[in-house]
Formats: sequence, structure tokens, C-alpha cells
Amino acid sequence: MSDVLNVNGLRSGYGELPVLDGVSLRVGAGEIVSVLGANGAGKTTLLLTISGHLPAHGGAVDFDGHDILGMPAHQAVEKGLVMVPEGGRLFPFMTVLENLELGAYHPVARARMAQSLQEVMGLFPILAERRGQLAGRLSGGERQMCAVARAMMALPKLLMLDEPSLGLAPIMVDKVFDMVRALVAQKGLSVLLVEQNVGNALHLSQRAYVLEHGHMVKSGVSTDLLNDPEVQRSYMGL
Ligand SMILES: Nc1ncnc2c1ncn2[C@@H]1O[C@H](COP(=O)(O)OP(=O)(O)OP(=O)(O)O)[C@@H](O)[C@H]1O
Ligand SMILES: [Mg+2]
Repeated sequence: MSDVLNVNGLRSGYGELPVLDGVSLRVGAGEIVSVLGANGAGKTTLLLTISGHLPAHGGAVDFDGHDILGMPAHQAVEKGLVMVPEGGRLFPFMTVLENLELGAYHPVARARMAQSLQEVMGLFPILAERRGQLAGRLSGGERQMCAVARAMMALPKLLMLDEPSLGLAPIMVDKVFDMVRALVAQKGLSVLLVEQNVGNALHLSQRAYVLEHGHMVKSGVSTDLLNDPEVQRSYMGL
């Protein structure tokens, strides 16, 4: 399987403060891969560095055959690397439709906007119903759907999701994860999923990595990690 994302020895942090200390991972085409870790492990920092929002201190990031280390985030988006930030970060005083349209900001996505809108409205019927409503009035689950739909408007090859289950009731977590599964099946995307909800993430992904204090301490096939006593004890409260 060819890799859509290949991260090697990535280091980054905030100012002088190092956070990621040589992180490596890969995502194959069509694969869902999760990165698990506790609060403060460096999960968000990892996604921000890969996507170009935070400068790297060292390492290499290859995305779809392009060396994207140091590339500005908006250029990486044009190549198909699209991140859904923690909490979705919608514009609360804009409508659902306006938020979706903003996702299609680069020229290629803009040219295809009408078609993309039709597609995401089909995939997320709730957003079609709520298209004229202010995004700030959506429920937590709807907001997460809208954030993923907005990312789809940018025509991603790889979708990076930062804790999409955060703050959602278990039934909504299932819905959001089902939606991710459906997107991958229908659109042939790849997904890099960052989660603290370890059980759900391992059921969704094919492979996973465990991040602790800026280091990858474990990786493997998700079903193996689900049965790993150390993972169960440290991350699943079993
Ligand atoms: N803007 C920032 N400035 C300085 N330090 C930061 C900043 N953002 C995060 N950190 C620090 O970097 C480390 C990693 O944070 P990060 O947000 O990547 O963790 P996380 O795994 O995403 O945690 P969570 O599950 O709580 O979202 C933490 O020690 C955090 O305090
Ligand atoms: Mg985080």
C-alpha cells in the first residue's frame, strides 16, 4: 500500500519548549490511523506541525509525494491535507451554509463548490436541514458534523481529526465515528484521527500509535492494541 503521509523524526514545540521529540508515523492510502494519548501528550501539537500551522524544529513530512515540511498551511490544504481542529472551530455567527462555503476557499475547491455542497448535504442531511441556521446554535454533535463537512469542501486526500468525540454523548460519538467510516468508504479518503476516546478510536481505525510526552511509545494493528493489557490499563480504565 502506498503511503499518503509519512512523518519521520518530527520535532516541534512552542518557542524554546520542546514537545514532539522525534515522532514518526505513516498513513496508507485509504487507511484510518489513530494517535492515542493522554492530555498534554502532544497530539494537537503533532497535527498542527504536520499541517504547517506550527513550525517544525526538525524531521521530515512527506504528503502524497510532496515534501511539505515548512510549507504554509494553506498550501498544504491545496494539496489535500485538511485538518479539523479541536472543537471544530466553526464561525458561530455565520450560517451552516456560510461555514461550508468557507471550506472551499482555494481555487480548485471553489470551482467545484456547488457540486461539493450537494455532496456534503447528501452525506449530512442534518446540515441541509439546518443550512440557514447560525452555526453557534448547532448541538455539539451537529457542530462536529459541520466541521467535518467544511473540511470535505476543501477536497481532502487526508483528513486529520483532532478529538472529534470531545464533549459528545456516547450516542453522538458513535454517530460521528460512523460518519467518518462512511466518508472513507465512499470517498476513498485517508484519515489520521487523534483521540483520547481510546476504545472508540481503536474500533474505527486499522492501525494506531500511542503518544506519551512527545514520544511514540507503541504502535500496531488496532485490534492488537485493544487487547494489549498495558493499553487497557493506561487508557481504557480496565
Ligand atoms: N500554545 C502553546 N504554548 C505553549 N505550550 C503549549 C501550547 N499549546 C500546548 N502547549 C504544551 O504542549 C504540550 C502538548 O500539548 P498538546 O496540546 O499537543 O497536547 P494534547 O495531547 O493535544 O492534549 P489534549 O488531549 O489535552 O488536547 C503540553 O505540555 C502543553 O502544555
Ligand atoms: Mg489536543
